[in-house]
Amino acid sequence: MLKDNVAALLNQQVNKEFYSAYLYLDFANFYEDEGLKGFANWYRVQAQEERDHAMLMIQYLQNNDCKVTLEAIDKPSCTLKERMDPLQEGYKHEQYVTSLIHNIYSAAYDERDFRTMQFLDWFVKEQGEEETNASDLIKKMELFGDDAKSLYMLDSELGARVYAAPSLTL
Ligand code: FEO
Repeated sequence: MLKDNVAALLNQQVNKEFYSAYLYLDFANFYEDEGLKGFANWYRVQAQEERDHAMLMIQYLQNNDCKVTLEAIDKPSCTLKERMDPLQEGYKHEQYVTSLIHNIYSAAYDERDFRTMQFLDWFVKEQGEEETNASDLIKKMELFGDDAKSLYMLDSELGARVYAAPSLTL
């Protein structure tokens, strides 16, 4: 059995990951309305990944005989006006999620819960990649977003992203 505080944080993270999926779906819808279908595709795939993160947390809790409680998912909170807005909000959000994962890791560390630390190692690495991806998108948009042809090519590049199941299996 996991310690109650660690299990509670993991349970809370299930909700945060589903919220992330909801937020990225909102970003995808924004870009659909803007006619940028590649950006929309990128965030739809991202939303699928976030759902996977939630499902991994659920499975880990259940593998450890912990009860999972699903809470209400908040409405996406960002105001999106400019094409850059989702990219910047997404980067901020990933930094926030990294802090949440580190917080759970820290609680597991304090409890000498090595199993949970090992489980979370994958998420620590994943967060590094997600922050890099989010930051790279901002840089690309800064460089190419004001030029129609370049924006078209960037949109095509993002449209090629395909969903892949997570590399972590439990
Ligand atoms: Fe589940 Fe984008 O972190």
